[in-house]
Amino acid sequence: MKKDLISMDDLRLQEIRAYLELARRVEDTPLKERAALLPGSIMASMFFEPSTRTRLSFESAMYRLGGSVIGFAEKDATSVSKGESFTDTVHTVESYSDIMVIRHPGEGTARLAAQESFLPVINAGDGSNQHPTQTLLDLYTIEKDFGKIEDIKIAFAGDLKYSRTVHSLLRALMKFGMREFYLVAPEELSLPKYFKMGGEQDTFTFNESEHIEEVINQVDVLYVTRIQRERFPDIVEYEKVKGSYVLDAEMLEKAPANLRVLHPLPRVDEIAYDVDKTKHAGYFPQARNGVIMRQAILLKHLGVSL
Ligand code: CP
Repeated sequence: MKKDLISMDDLRLQEIRAYLELARRVEDTPLKERAALLPGSIMASMFFEPSTRTRLSFESAMYRLGGSVIGFAEKDATSVSKGESFTDTVHTVESYSDIMVIRHPGEGTARLAAQESFLPVINAGDGSNQHPTQTLLDLYTIEKDFGKIEDIKIAFAGDLKYSRTVHSLLRALMKFGMREFYLVAPEELSLPKYFKMGGEQDTFTFNESEHIEEVINQVDVLYVTRIQRERFPDIVEYEKVKGSYVLDAEMLEKAPANLRVLHPLPRVDEIAYDVDKTKHAGYFPQARNGVIMRQAILLKHLGVSL
C-alpha cells in the first residue's frame, strides 16, 4: 500500500522516531553508496507556492540517492494558468513519476492529492496548516544538538497564528510528551485557540509573552518564525504587526550557553544578521539537515530500506 506524508497528526511517536533513525543511517552512509539507492526513480516536484529550501533540498536529496526530478516551481509555468484543475494536474503528473512532493497555498490540498493519486504524496507545506517534512528536520536538528527531544524547553516566537512550521512542530512535540511551551507573539498573531483548549489540550501549559527577552533565559530552543505577509487577508493588518520583534546579538549576550536559535527560514528582519556569528545560531545547520531528512523521507516512501 502506498504511504503518504501529509500531517504530523497522522504519525504515531514510533513512526516519527523511525524517520529520525533512518535519517541518522542516511547521514552515516557514504555518498557513493547512497547514490545507488534510487536509480531510475523520478520525483515530481510540484510547487504552487515559492520555496527555496524545501524544493531545492528535496531535489538535492533525490539526486543524492541516484534518482531524477521533474517539476515546476510556480503555477504560472503550468497549465493551471490556463484553467486546468489541481486534481487534473495531479492525475497527469502521477503518470510521469514515482512520488509527488507538493507545496500549495491551499490548506488540505496535499491530503486531496493523496486521496486522488495512486502515488505516494509528500506535503511540502499546505497554507497555514502543516509542513511535516520541516518538522521532521527540526526534530532531527534538536536531537542532534541536545541528544534528546523529550525534556527540551522550547519557545516559539513570531507568527504563531499562520505558521505551518509552528503548528506541525507543536503537534509533534506533544507526541513526545512535552507539556509546557513558551509562546512569544503579538496578540494578533497568537496561537489558534484550538491548540490550547478542549480535551487533551487542557493538559498543556502555554506561557505567553510579547517579548523575546522574557523567555531567552528559560528555554533551550528559541524557534523564531517570520511574519508572513502573504498569509494576511488584509495588508493593513500586516502593517500593524510587521517588525514587531527582532532578535539581535546583544539580546543573546546573557543567554545560557546552550541556547539554540532555530528558524525554518526564510527570515526577513526578525533575526538580525549579527546573530549569525553567535554560538546560538542554529538555523543554517538546520537547513542543511533538510537534505538528510528528505533523503530518509524519499527512501521510506519509495519503499527502499537502508
Ligand atoms: N522552511 C521552508 O519551508 O523554506 P522555503 O519556503 O524556502 O521552502
